[in-house]
Amino acid sequence: MPVKISVRPNGPYLIEGECEVVDPTGKKVETGGKPTIALCRCGGSSNKPFCDGTHNKIGFKAS
Ligand code: FES
Repeated sequence: MPVKISVRPNGPYLIEGECEVVDPTGKKVETGGKPTIALCRCGGSSNKPFCDGTHNKIGFKAS
């Protein structure tokens, strides 16, 4: 099944399907085996690369 990446209005990227996230050094980032993960798009998350909901608090706006 192909990976699906959706852009949430004023929010994160939703990644559905099996994927691997790596940091800038190539080290694997643990995703907890969740079927869907949310990656921060606003830059404000305290849990990068994942979304922690901060986009709502800082009023991030992007279609
Ligand atoms: S997109 Fe949600 S915290 Fe950045």
